[in-house]
Amino acid sequence: MTNDSRKPVMAGNWKMNINHLESIAYVNKMAFSLIEADYARTEVVIFPPFTNIRSVQTVIDADHLAITYGAQDISAHDSGAYTGEISGSMLKKLRVTYALIGHSERRAYHHETDESVNAKVKAAIKNDLIPMIAVGETLDIRQSGNAVDHTLNQIQGALKDIRSNYVSELVIAYEPVWAIGTGEVATPQDAQDMSLAIRQKVAKLYSQDVADKVRILYGGSVKAGNVKAIMEQPDVDGALIGGAALDPDEFLRIIRWPDQP
Ligand code: 13P
Repeated sequence: MTNDSRKPVMAGNWKMNINHLESIAYVNKMAFSLIEADYARTEVVIFPPFTNIRSVQTVIDADHLAITYGAQDISAHDSGAYTGEISGSMLKKLRVTYALIGHSERRAYHHETDESVNAKVKAAIKNDLIPMIAVGETLDIRQSGNAVDHTLNQIQGALKDIRSNYVSELVIAYEPVWAIGTGEVATPQDAQDMSLAIRQKVAKLYSQDVADKVRILYGGSVKAGNVKAIMEQPDVDGALIGGAALDPDEFLRIIRWPDQP
């Protein structure tokens, strides 16, 4: 994290954990603990399940908290007969800021492809939501030496026909699948190498100016004990945290990454 124009982001992806009542207690705890200096230094984002978004919004609005929130997925469609799906306009009504798109769990369990990810990126932009696009390779792909090619192809697919003014605003989360929920964290150098490769790809597809603005996060077994070394890498602008973000105290320590060992 060396570029002053990119504000660091610490984003907690709750996945299918924490119900709406628990989410109220969680956000209140954050509100109680976070101080101006934390918000000034780091953007704090949470991705609750859809059923909690209204509760989270209510607590955040009531206390004018500077916490932003996102949805863990978004429908590619505007409205209609798509049972179980949630549209971008519904999310926008709840003042959601981010839409997490293409998480590896959605790619693996819900058969999302680069094409469907691209359609969801377009749906997010159309509804004035910021896409947070998740990419990353499986262990097989890493072991075969194709991690960079694979991840950059995912980037290219996700960004197909997206104009540069939108790209400079969005967030990319590099999450190697083998590091998610396994305790197996990529080395800070691995995180840096892939983040730099992603930034160079964005520069090639758009311009260096756009690439310098895109924020690139690392995700995969991030916790308070390893976040600082990851954040010290020049092309890593934040983290997307799963398991460790379920405990608000641990998430707070991660948000205060410069104070960690
Ligand atoms: P863990 O932090 O539990 O490895 O999960 C990472 C992740 O998938 C965040 O989206």
